Amino acid sequence: MPPSSSSVPVVQPANSRFRCIACGDLSDHATQNFRCARCGDLLEITYPHWQEAKPDASDLKSVWRKRRLSLSAVDLSGVWRFRELLPAIENDPEVVTLHEGNTPLYELPQCAHITGVPRLFAKHQGMNPTGSFKDTGMTVAATFARRAGFRWVACASTGNTSASMAAYAARGGMRSLVLVPDGKISWSKLSQALDYGAVTCQLRTDFDGCLRLLQELVLRAPVYQLNSINPFRLEGQKTIALELLEQLDWQVPDHIIVPGGNLGNSSALGKALLEMREVGLISHLPKLSVIQAEGANALVRTLREAKGERLVSVQAETRATAIRIGNPASWKKAARVLEATGGACEQVSEIEIAQAKAEIGAEGIGCEPASAVTLAGLKTLVQRRFVKPDETVVLVLTGNLLKDPDFTIDFHRGELFKGAEGASRAVERLRRPPIVLDATLDAVIQILEQAEKS
Ligand code: F0G
Repeated sequence: MPPSSSSVPVVQPANSRFRCIACGDLSDHATQNFRCARCGDLLEITYPHWQEAKPDASDLKSVWRKRRLSLSAVDLSGVWRFRELLPAIENDPEVVTLHEGNTPLYELPQCAHITGVPRLFAKHQGMNPTGSFKDTGMTVAATFARRAGFRWVACASTGNTSASMAAYAARGGMRSLVLVPDGKISWSKLSQALDYGAVTCQLRTDFDGCLRLLQELVLRAPVYQLNSINPFRLEGQKTIALELLEQLDWQVPDHIIVPGGNLGNSSALGKALLEMREVGLISHLPKLSVIQAEGANALVRTLREAKGERLVSVQAETRATAIRIGNPASWKKAARVLEATGGACEQVSEIEIAQAKAEIGAEGIGCEPASAVTLAGLKTLVQRRFVKPDETVVLVLTGNLLKDPDFTIDFHRGELFKGAEGASRAVERLRRPPIVLDATLDAVIQILEQAEKS
């Protein structure tokens, strides 16, 4: 186990370096808080050897396709299958994997009809092993944590990161420490961390308070931090975009829409798109747009009120607890990729989120509330004519329906907006409350007949 010190270098893969996003300082090592030693800003991973010899795009496409027939663990991973664009590992068995990635791309015909955008798809990251996109980043970061010899990994979380981290730590033979806001994460996510063996602390604060504490903790204790401040996480999450483009046969969609919380995922997808263009896998960029909940709209306000020059933090409040974040760590990275791709940033209301979630559910797909902001945001972007009806749109659904059953049950029972103004008829029409009946044939047939008429 490394000594308890902030100067402990984190293992550096041979093919890449760390670069500070603010001052551009390049280094071969990062300290445990993954902050630039010179100016304190965030680090990203860069691949200097691409300057002399870029990977060949058609070779990459054919190697990645061939690996789909392979039975080795690294190739069965929908993340490591794309390893030419990831930090290098020395040998395959060192990878900590649960066969993450490999998530489906679904058409959404009913939502297409609702939004008036016929070519509408969902890339369902909720189909990952622990039920969220976090697994795509966790496999990479956990692999490098183990390689660096860490016995403990830790994160602050609104629930999904902690579920994923706990699972990958367990698979990699490491212990995990979870810091979550007390009473503000769903039982499903909490139960995952417990079952996977994490030491789970419910702190009397919000997510932002948990993350602040973790940043101090990693400077004092020999734990490896697995939040998305850790740039290895974002490298793994890049593969969401790689796999998506492969599924579209490298035909670039016009728009990709993602939810925004701590803003690691939007940053990762944007980095992937820029790198794909750099190595010639795609000829141009799709517009990458970020949608936030109205009550947790730090990036929206940062771009509108401060022109993206400083963070406008907020006191976050939303029932989409996964994105209940007021002080997003990766705001600068996200603002940059929005600018580079020409994407938009929008906010949606609690009612719009609930309605969109039920509409995605009615497609037989389902997702957690934070993921549904994408569909709600698409409606706004269509209204603003930022998205045109003849364009191709991909929504990134970040988490599984089963991640937050309380939200879904409250919605269908009509308890989500009880007493609140404005739960519209559109929302009411989507509700399917459970019906308690006497166990008789007549009673069930009567319900069936009523349902047929409605
Ligand atoms: N969707 C879901 C389901 C999430 O769990 C998160 C973040 C996001 C979207 C937002 O992604 O933070 O990269 O902008 N969840 C974190 C967690 C913060 O701790 O699980 P982001």
